[in-house]
Amino acid sequence: MSAKNTLDSLEVVPTGAALGAEIRGVDLSAPMPEEVKDALRDAWTEHLVLLFRDQEMTEEQHLDATRIFGEAVVPAAKAYYDKAGKQQTWAAKYPEITVVHNLDDDGNPVQQNESLGSGEVVWHNDNSYAEKPPAGSMLYGRRLPPSGGNTCFSNQYTAYETLPEDVKQKIEGKTAVHDASRNSAGTLRPGVKLPTKPSEVPGPHHPLVCTHPESGRRALYLGRRRAYPSQYIDDMEEGESEALLDFLWEHACRDELVWAHVWRLGDVLLWDNRCTMHYREPHAGTHPRLMHRTQIEGAQPV
Ligand code: SIN
Repeated sequence: MSAKNTLDSLEVVPTGAALGAEIRGVDLSAPMPEEVKDALRDAWTEHLVLLFRDQEMTEEQHLDATRIFGEAVVPAAKAYYDKAGKQQTWAAKYPEITVVHNLDDDGNPVQQNESLGSGEVVWHNDNSYAEKPPAGSMLYGRRLPPSGGNTCFSNQYTAYETLPEDVKQKIEGKTAVHDASRNSAGTLRPGVKLPTKPSEVPGPHHPLVCTHPESGRRALYLGRRRAYPSQYIDDMEEGESEALLDFLWEHACRDELVWAHVWRLGDVLLWDNRCTMHYREPHAGTHPRLMHRTQIEGAQPV
């Protein structure tokens, strides 16, 4: 066993922002004793996003590291691509690993592709368009551009806690649709028709406020919203729903709730989809950016 991965070597260094901590003294590719796994799970519950620097993992090791926090699951998007006979977004032999990249079929960097390309990836919780969205995601930076493409996180416990009382009351017990039609880079999923009115928006209906199963804290759960027609609040007049969603989205992504991660090669980020949202800044698209992302089994949000 490596000299790392002991309770003595483990350090949890908070970012000083609204969420996130760097974990030091851990090698995710090496065996991990149970007491260190427990400490990592506790740190995740407390800090919502964990950063591990200077990691070197094979696909198998990435999956093992993911399993410290729960079962590794196949991402919801894969079913759409399988049905359309498209394969480029998953690591060969590892359907649980999504390759987030900006390459074309010849391996050249491009602005747009079906794997989130080089552009902005709007604020979202991963796979909230599924009935049981993943509890967490683990993203490993394998090829990075010289600048740009930072991944930013927003604390959705604080977003909920800082809402005005009247807004808390308005959204209490309400659900909203989580638009499955387009991914977070705005690309229409294969085989899906672009909605032309709210009633055509496909996707599950999740509560706007959810209770985290581990911490017991309440978080705002907005998930995803694309260009109109997209997300709407159930049992609410359309104009009121749009205005309330405008307010909630702006409130949930305010700078004071956000920590922005500037990537270094070998970085691994683990985030909790049940109490954070994330956003990727665009980058020039002239250099390859290639990340491996796993997802951790979750439950229906309540
Ligand atoms: C994602 O939204 O899961 C991808 C984030 C990134 O590419 O940094």
